[in-house]
Amino acid sequence: MTALDCLLQVEDLRVAFDTFQGRLTAVDGISFRVKPGEVLGLVGESGSGKSVTSLSLLRLLPQPPGKVEARALLFDGRELQGLGEKEMRRIRGGEMAMIFQAPAGALNPVYTIGCQVEEVLRLHRGLSKKEARTRAVEMLRLVGLPRPERVAREYPHRLSGGMLQRAMIAMALSGKPKLIIADEPTTALDVTIQAQVLELMKEMQRRFNTAFILISHDLGVVAEMADRVAVMYAGRIVEEAETAALLKRPLHPYTGGLIASRPALAGERKPLQPIPGQGPDLLNRPPGCLYHPRCHRRREICRQESPPELQPEPGRRVSCWLYAEEQEDGGGDR
Ligand SMILES: Nc1ncnc2c1ncn2[C@@H]1O[C@H](COP(=O)(O)OP(=O)(O)O)[C@@H](O)[C@H]1O
Ligand SMILES: [Mg+2]
Repeated sequence: MTALDCLLQVEDLRVAFDTFQGRLTAVDGISFRVKPGEVLGLVGESGSGKSVTSLSLLRLLPQPPGKVEARALLFDGRELQGLGEKEMRRIRGGEMAMIFQAPAGALNPVYTIGCQVEEVLRLHRGLSKKEARTRAVEMLRLVGLPRPERVAREYPHRLSGGMLQRAMIAMALSGKPKLIIADEPTTALDVTIQAQVLELMKEMQRRFNTAFILISHDLGVVAEMADRVAVMYAGRIVEEAETAALLKRPLHPYTGGLIASRPALAGERKPLQPIPGQGPDLLNRPPGCLYHPRCHRRREICRQESPPELQPEPGRRVSCWLYAEEQEDGGGDR
């Protein structure tokens, strides 16, 4: 990927928190890129650093106690780290929007839905009050809300989780974003509504060619929509590949574990196999590969040294000792 066809380029992002127990490393040097119109899935168990990553990109993480560092955070050709708070505010909700996990908290409880969509249209698109009012209703209709004129006059607490999520998608799209970061957008919803909201996001992505970072602990949700998937474990990206390739042949044992622990899809029969053990203590990171205590394929070296990042196939990367040997054994210059 050249710099030109790259919408977002994250290089060596690190996030730590100073806590009473000491320094907690939540994100430990991750790098990834998103192309215009592309959907990158970010998946990993709870606590792996997904939300901290997305909040850092939007500069929404309180600092202190957080501390964010990166070699580069390039968005649409601009380095975000150099920007002032005013410029950042212009980007947030405009070129780069965010959709959070549903219920009320994500929207302001004291303003009507319509008012909040209008605000985005006026602030980021420069519409007049009157234009914004009409357009807000159109946006609410676009995301499939029934009786959008009425929904516009409602306060968030009057809407169901599924409707709120649609309203939030309308709000995000109103700023004509190039990138939407959707952090567990369907986690709080029941299964049928979850599928509808995912379908809506997919439709909007195709229609407006918006790039997405779709974040979920559920690989199934991510696989529905993502072109590529990056797998996070304990603040690191341990594997990244195109979605189909990742599902067909996961390379990292953790990815394999995530696939095995997925509930069966429709028509599939398989027992559920949760990954045994827990994520590492981020305050006291163990030496070696952070996954080794839970890994059924661990070797001696995994306990001692952190695995290098390897590219066993074009377009794939994995951090695991299993593939390091393969390369040395005659993988040559693949
Ligand atoms: N404000 C904070 N202070 C201290 N630790 C935090 C804070 N926010 C997040 N963390 C820690 O950072 C780690 C990653 O959290 P998070 O990004 O929310 O995980 P995920 O979204 O993948 O479930 C967790 O161990 C979490 O406890
Ligand atoms: Mg999270």
